[in-house]
Amino acid sequence: MDLPFAESWKIKMIEPIRKSTRIQREQWLKEAGYNVFKLKAEHVYIDLITDSGTGAMSDRQWASLMIGDESYAGATSFFKMQETVNKITGFKYVLPAHQGRAAENVLFSCLVKEGDYVPGNSQFDTTKGHIESRKAFAVDCTIDEARDTQLELPFKGNVDIQKLEKVLIEHNEKIPFIIVTVTNNTAGGQPVSMQNLREVSLLAKKFNKPVLFDSARFAENAYFIKVREKGYADKSIKEICREMFTFADGMTMSAKKDAIVNMGGFIATNIEDWYDLAKIKGIVFEGYITYGGMNGRDMNALAVGLDENTEFENLETRIKQIEYLAAQLDEFKIPYQRPAGGHAIFIDAPKVLTNVPKEEFPAQTLTVELYLEAGIRGCEIGYILADRDPITRQNRFDGNDFLRLAIPRRTYTNNHIDVIAVALKNVFDRRNSITRGMAIEWEAELMRHFTVKLKRL
Ligand code: F0G
Repeated sequence: MDLPFAESWKIKMIEPIRKSTRIQREQWLKEAGYNVFKLKAEHVYIDLITDSGTGAMSDRQWASLMIGDESYAGATSFFKMQETVNKITGFKYVLPAHQGRAAENVLFSCLVKEGDYVPGNSQFDTTKGHIESRKAFAVDCTIDEARDTQLELPFKGNVDIQKLEKVLIEHNEKIPFIIVTVTNNTAGGQPVSMQNLREVSLLAKKFNKPVLFDSARFAENAYFIKVREKGYADKSIKEICREMFTFADGMTMSAKKDAIVNMGGFIATNIEDWYDLAKIKGIVFEGYITYGGMNGRDMNALAVGLDENTEFENLETRIKQIEYLAAQLDEFKIPYQRPAGGHAIFIDAPKVLTNVPKEEFPAQTLTVELYLEAGIRGCEIGYILADRDPITRQNRFDGNDFLRLAIPRRTYTNNHIDVIAVALKNVFDRRNSITRGMAIEWEAELMRHFTVKLKRL
């Protein structure tokens, strides 16, 4: 008999988590204005609000913290991090930043001007924010198939090459770079194929435009290339990463994801001009060029994390846990973005809460129901997060309305996953009795999901 699959690590340190009663949760959620971002974390049993900065570091990472070099300039920790980034990506210039959006802020300050167009595949909300706040336009060129949650495609995060070409022709002069997000978070943690990265790069070269990768989950993307794309089964994850980055001129990185640190990020590139410009902005916004908002010890942990998480076994353990949850949802017939992505399950809320009109935010309603059911905190990636159209000020209902269950790396066991699946099933079983959703009582103009106040209808 074949041995069953099991994690490629064992647990050395634990952190207690607490259950609560439904009555307590009703009260806490009401006080939080039905916005799960406003809940105290201690009032959450299983926290799936994000996989960002919430992973468990390894013993090697913890050990590396002790030998962090906290020198203001020229710290050995910086050089360790630079060497690792260089080895994995092939990029020579590395500029630390305290997290992904800080790296975006530094680089986009240099490259994005008013009236510019930045095409890509479903730019993440902070990426879009950094483009739109500079009065430029983020153009989403993701393949249309990504919108149909029930369609099974191996690389649903891909860029539609025709859409991209059209933007390149129409706005040629106004395009500072193309951005490809690997994996495509907003479309459901969906990967981008090597073939697609190659095609984007060829097209970019034709139009003489640089390509930037938003690389928060690049290692997970490499895993999917290995297991799903022809010709890569026998290549190592590190070989695949190197090849992926040959199709980019630079990257921004939120190290809180695939480098498995609690805080950190960087810009890396081979374009000397980009580095020279970004250095100056980096010093102003983040700190001197060899720390950029990071502690020496955290740069050490980042270097170790990147090295570990570009090994197959670590990624396989992670992605198989997402698949384990997906298999249970299949059994219960709960609809989600198919196939399961790299870091999360995205439940297709309007397909579950069919009686809740879109104006009453089905995904937010489902987020609330799941928390009330079992103290599990997911988050809405849907109509509230989409913000209003900046010109018409109408809600944008044209995208997907997801409840995202992001699974932190190396943090929960499959017993927790069983609890999540059953809690969802319980909500799913009473879905037809949920006929009303949420109404907005107060909202901010931008990124309203973080601070919105809601009421239950
Ligand atoms: N790019 C992608 C694709 C992301 O998913 C995120 C963050 C960022 C950039 C920004 O990085 O948080 O370090 O500033 N995503 C988190 C999430 C917050 O929950 O998906 P950051």
